[in-house]
Amino acid sequence: MAATQAMETKRHDLVVIGAGPGGYVAAIRAAQLGLDVACIEKEPRLGGTCLRIGCIPSKALLESSELFHETKHSFAGHGIVAKDVQLDLKAMLARKDGVVDALTKGIAGLFKKNKVTRYEGLGRLAGGTQVEVVDAQGQPSARLEAKHVLIATGSTSANLKGIELDGDRVGTSTEALAWPAVPQHLVVIGAGAIGLELGSVWCRLGAKVTVLEYLDRILPANDAEIAKEAQKILVKQGLEFRLGVKVTGARKDQEGALVTIEGHEPIRCDRVLVSVGRKPHTDGLGLDKVGIALDSRGRIPVDAHFATSAKGIYAIGDVIPGPMLAHKAEEEGVACVERLVTGYGHVNHDTIPNVVYTHPEVAGVGKTEEELVAAGIPYRKGAFPFLANGRAKALGATEGKVKILAHKDTDRILGVHIVGARAGDLIAEAVAAMEFGASSEDLARTCHAHPTLAEVVKEAALAVDGRALHI
Ligand code: NAI
Repeated sequence: MAATQAMETKRHDLVVIGAGPGGYVAAIRAAQLGLDVACIEKEPRLGGTCLRIGCIPSKALLESSELFHETKHSFAGHGIVAKDVQLDLKAMLARKDGVVDALTKGIAGLFKKNKVTRYEGLGRLAGGTQVEVVDAQGQPSARLEAKHVLIATGSTSANLKGIELDGDRVGTSTEALAWPAVPQHLVVIGAGAIGLELGSVWCRLGAKVTVLEYLDRILPANDAEIAKEAQKILVKQGLEFRLGVKVTGARKDQEGALVTIEGHEPIRCDRVLVSVGRKPHTDGLGLDKVGIALDSRGRIPVDAHFATSAKGIYAIGDVIPGPMLAHKAEEEGVACVERLVTGYGHVNHDTIPNVVYTHPEVAGVGKTEEELVAAGIPYRKGAFPFLANGRAKALGATEGKVKILAHKDTDRILGVHIVGARAGDLIAEAVAAMEFGASSEDLARTCHAHPTLAEVVKEAALAVDGRALHI
């Protein structure tokens, strides 16, 4: 404490704590709007979990492993002979690291360009709108005073009672992005986005993969019909699912790892990926200094404009309620700082898409069919399979379908759910349509280029009215 008292206080308009997609984007936007902005990040590299150990490295590995798999299994069908295809895992991991490196440096460049002051260390609230920067040894290295403070500290992997994470045999997504060898048998605990994406990576590279899920279905946040279809496709690719099983423990042992399940034989394997959700990250933030109390799920409560209960302190992204998604955090960060400067800023939380980057991808926006049924909202449904689309045939990507849910009386689109090639890109059209309050008829009457996968979306919209053309 004495050290900080002697320290000069640096003043900024806005101090952002955390340089993930929520925090760094908010910092850039605030700087664009003319604020003097500082951003505190405890890791040497900017970009947060998403960029360093999440979305970006996993997408790099998904791409590489898919190419490997295609070369081995699909090239022959295209008349391409690829003999003696081998995996150079070291090079694959190095490419992934290169992608991450380039992007984190890119953010550092954007900070320079926008004159965002960067502080390296842990940001700790110190009363009012003061923030201390604490170094790796726990010593204060700077004292800041701001008009506004924005908490964007994200989330960390959750764990279960009985699971002994050892950072090697039993690990989280962080370790599963860097295993030095392909596991013989990988057990994945949790069939959410992380489990399916990283399970797919190692399955394509040759591992036997068993996914254990507590619920009786995979991807609990997605539309059930689409999740079921995704499961069928993943099973064909070699993933083994055991649904409705409760994992009671996992630990490293002499021969690898052992996973125990309630009422079943334990499973012996050589690696375990624990992907049972994430929890808000507020450790060491000093919330007690400003009187912010967490909700029952460890999240920071905020109002519609991201203001916490402490004056001048705001929070966005994984640390507040809502889906833990990078793009949700980004939108919130931009809306929060725009409101501080211009008096207006808004996020439409009804149109946040979600994408699971398996092959094929699974994507959705708006209400699922189960949610509409539960809420008693009358709807019409149109679905169209990729199998009946010319481009999908030419690509050899005919699995899956698009499903559109529209209000029975007004025809307004309420939800769009896709499992199929490039679903993550196709969903953007649905998001834009919903942002403009479109009806399924609007989508059906929109000209879509031929031959493209986007025509599956158009045909699904036509199918809402029972007039799909190519089926
Ligand atoms: P998740 O919450 O999506 O899925 C976790 C799964 O674990 C659930 O299906 C749950 O029922 C299951 N589970 C919980 N306890 C269990 C037990 N004892 N035994 C067996 N299964 C159990 O969490 P995940 O996949 O770890 O992802 C964390 C967060 O990160 C999510 O909010 C997700 O949306 C986000 N994320 C998003 C990605 C994307 O958008 N592509 C990629 C990766 C993560």
